[in-house]
Amino acid sequence: MAQSDIMKYTKVKRGKIYIGDAREVYPQIAEENQVIITDPPYNIGIKYENYNDKLSESEYRSLFYPFVNHKAAIIQYPEDTIRYIIPELGIPNRILAWCYNSNISRQYRLISIFNTEPSFNNSKIPYKNPKDKRIRKLIEGGSKGTRCYDWFSDIQIVKNVSKEKIMKKENGKNVPVHPCQIPVKLMQRLIALCSNKDEVIVDPFLGVGATAIAAESMGREWIGIEFSKKYCNLSIERVKNWEKYVDFDFLETLTY
Ligand SMILES: C[S@@+](CC[C@H](N)C(=O)[O-])C[C@H]1O[C@@H](n2cnc3c(N)ncnc32)[C@H](O)[C@@H]1O
Repeated sequence: MAQSDIMKYTKVKRGKIYIGDAREVYPQIAEENQVIITDPPYNIGIKYENYNDKLSESEYRSLFYPFVNHKAAIIQYPEDTIRYIIPELGIPNRILAWCYNSNISRQYRLISIFNTEPSFNNSKIPYKNPKDKRIRKLIEGGSKGTRCYDWFSDIQIVKNVSKEKIMKKENGKNVPVHPCQIPVKLMQRLIALCSNKDEVIVDPFLGVGATAIAAESMGREWIGIEFSKKYCNLSIERVKNWEKYVDFDFLETLTY
């Protein structure tokens, strides 16, 4: 791809989307006021639109090198990807655990935080029983929820039946358009925990735009990079209609 093509972007609402390889694009747009919040490819052979998810160790490690010394929250899946991330980015300041229900034995993902400390006060865990008399009183008194710790279990993975999952018909069957959508709520929480109001949120592996929707809903500037034009177009459409994908009660539990 010619240099000028790499640096073309589409402006959507508060953000910019680059179609291309994060390894080529990010070094050209990196700035100090950016925080990387991302769910990188898993390197386990997932079928994406046009990306080989089975890279050699050195190629996989090269995905992370451009983010060295930046503030970053990187979701690790599977957890042994930390073997490749740490040699490139160093030891994380913190590791968070996102726990969820699923029908497989692994029911959590670790999220490594680099070059910043999460501000746990910026995110509350929504009350499970807001109609309870005692809880109603707390809410009336201004409480947004209970404390958020370094592990949490109130956000579920995006299942095929989830409202935010993008599905299509293939041979008469409903199949997911993107194999591994991440919940918008998770990206909203990470933005609240790991960035300041004036920082730009960057997702170098944007997929179908969960981070962009999260940043847009929180009034933040953002940048997305993604290999697949199809996923970029879906992100653009979704960000234009971001209100459809956001739980406004959850948004209330965040300080941003
Ligand atoms: C785990 S998925 C991210 C999914 C995203 N969080 C969402 O909710 O849609 C990783 C994405 O990274 C993209 N990708 C892989 N390697 C890339 C690279 N070098 N540069 C840009 N995008 C890349 C893949 O096409 C895939 O959509």
